[in-house]
Amino acid sequence: MLLSGLICSTALGLAASVAGQIQAPAIAGVAPPISNADRLYTGDQSSNTITVIKPLTGEVLGTIALGKQRLTDVLNPQYIQAVNTHGLGFSRDGKYIVSLSVTSNTVTVIRCVDNSIVSQTFVDRNAHEAFFASDNRTVWVGTRGVDRIDIVDGINGGIVGYVNTAGGPSKVLFSPDGKLAYANHIRSPTVSIIDVETRTVVRSITGLADKFSSDMMLSADGKRLWAAHKMVDKVSVISLQSNRVVSVLETGPETNHPNFADINGTTHGFVTVAAENLTRVYTQPDPEHAPVYLTSIKANVIEPHGLWPSPDNSYMYVLGEHSDAVDFVDLSTMRVTKTVHIGQEGQALVYVAGAVPEGSGDGTQNLGRQGLSRQRPLNKLLVGETHSDNVTATALVTVRRQAGLDMFQVIGRGLKLNTTYTVSASCLQCKAVRIPLVEFSASTPSGPGCGTAPQVLAFFKFIGVYSMESLKLVEVY
Ligand SMILES: *[C@@H]1O[C@H](CO)[C@@H](O)[C@H](O)[C@H]1NC(C)=O
Ligand SMILES: *[C@@H]1O[C@H](CO)[C@@H](O)[C@H](O)[C@H]1NC(C)=O
Ligand SMILES: *[C@@H]1O[C@H](CO)[C@@H](O)[C@H](O)[C@H]1NC(C)=O
Ligand SMILES: *[C@@H]1O[C@H](CO)[C@@H](O)[C@H](O)[C@H]1NC(C)=O
Ligand SMILES: *[C@@H]1O[C@H](CO)[C@@H](O)[C@H](O)[C@H]1NC(C)=O
Repeated sequence: MLLSGLICSTALGLAASVAGQIQAPAIAGVAPPISNADRLYTGDQSSNTITVIKPLTGEVLGTIALGKQRLTDVLNPQYIQAVNTHGLGFSRDGKYIVSLSVTSNTVTVIRCVDNSIVSQTFVDRNAHEAFFASDNRTVWVGTRGVDRIDIVDGINGGIVGYVNTAGGPSKVLFSPDGKLAYANHIRSPTVSIIDVETRTVVRSITGLADKFSSDMMLSADGKRLWAAHKMVDKVSVISLQSNRVVSVLETGPETNHPNFADINGTTHGFVTVAAENLTRVYTQPDPEHAPVYLTSIKANVIEPHGLWPSPDNSYMYVLGEHSDAVDFVDLSTMRVTKTVHIGQEGQALVYVAGAVPEGSGDGTQNLGRQGLSRQRPLNKLLVGETHSDNVTATALVTVRRQAGLDMFQVIGRGLKLNTTYTVSASCLQCKAVRIPLVEFSASTPSGPGCGTAPQVLAFFKFIGVYSMESLKLVEVY
């Protein structure tokens, strides 16, 4: 009896590891359809949460809180929790996700089956995006504040190694066989190729379109790597067969995350373009040739940011940073079929297949509602003056209700470089009086004589005090 029991469990173990869990992006035809066991996770910066969603039904199960929401206790000297939930990665077996808190430099590993925290490690400055190596245990972290990757033991916690790369590693991904790691950067126009076993850079791909790469993604076959450049509206398309930049795509203002899906036998690349509220789709049958533009998916959400496909290549999930929502995109029609509301100011989104295997409960343990019950953000695009080079200054204002004070965010675009602007409004009780709310300078260059102000942020009581309709963008000096 004992012997047959042992044989039986060994056989099962083998079968499971031979098959392995397939994660997205996956080659067409190898993964089962979207199932009850799968989950979507989003990293919600302002509510400081991870939202957990069932892709099969679109049900938002709840949120995992990693600390207080913005500006409650975060500035308190006694505050010790995580701040600014941002990037997300996962282990290939579907058992763990890793969340990066960019401001408190925290790497949090969470068990998918019950949403419990497995480990928390403090790493180098600005932990941005990370992934588990193919051992399903060690987490390689892009720490933008330094010139090295931190390697963390995801189960026991603690830093177990470093890899020196170029300036400010942004994200780390692994080749399908797990032998190589790839890192993009924010202070170097290169992608480092790292030998995982020896933890050393073995090659560097140079000539990317910009030194700042916000995000990158690998295709399912591991042959294509697309590195997005948010500051210059471009994507460097890299072949990992010939280790070179094959082409540079002009994708559009505030290009965010890339991802892939295999449709009708061809690899398609997807890139979110935040300022245009859309996701651009390209076909790239051959990794050595430039992709060809196919179509754009109009977002229902505002300012698309993170995106991830289902492993059966039937859906793409697109997160809207400024509407706190996720679009479900049917890839057979390239249309949004459903939009669900999540925690506040989502950044990254990942799809984890087999996160809550059948028979292990409903996966709702340790979930709360932080960030979910708030009023939806208000958005208004302000149009300013048209200047020198026929460029019109605009500002997207987003107002989010937070605890106590509202978050008032402005993205200024097409402004005059090094020129100061204000956004003003009339208050509801004093309609004739115009009150300046924020003043900012367009210091990030964007084309001849033009600049952007990508991250203007203020906290004050707006909702119930000022009128959204009265907001104005004015050049001051
Ligand atoms: C990690 O998980 C994948 C997917 O289930 C599996 O194929 C692989 O064997 C696992 N690695 C180890 C070292 O267990
Ligand atoms: C895939 O093929 C179907 C059937 O011919 C077609 O309707 C669909 O538009 C194709 N999708 C893409 C992205 O080419
Ligand atoms: C994006 O969405 C915002 C908010 O709805 C809107 O004001 C803006 O005009 C949209 N931008 C584009 C290019 O459609
Ligand atoms: C300025 O832009 C408008 C709208 O795109 C266009 O109609 C006009 O011809 C442009 N003028 C110049 C001088 O480029
Ligand atoms: C804009 O300001 C920056 C920083 O002060 C300065 O380095 C740059 O030369 C200025 N550019 C122009 C066109 O004035």
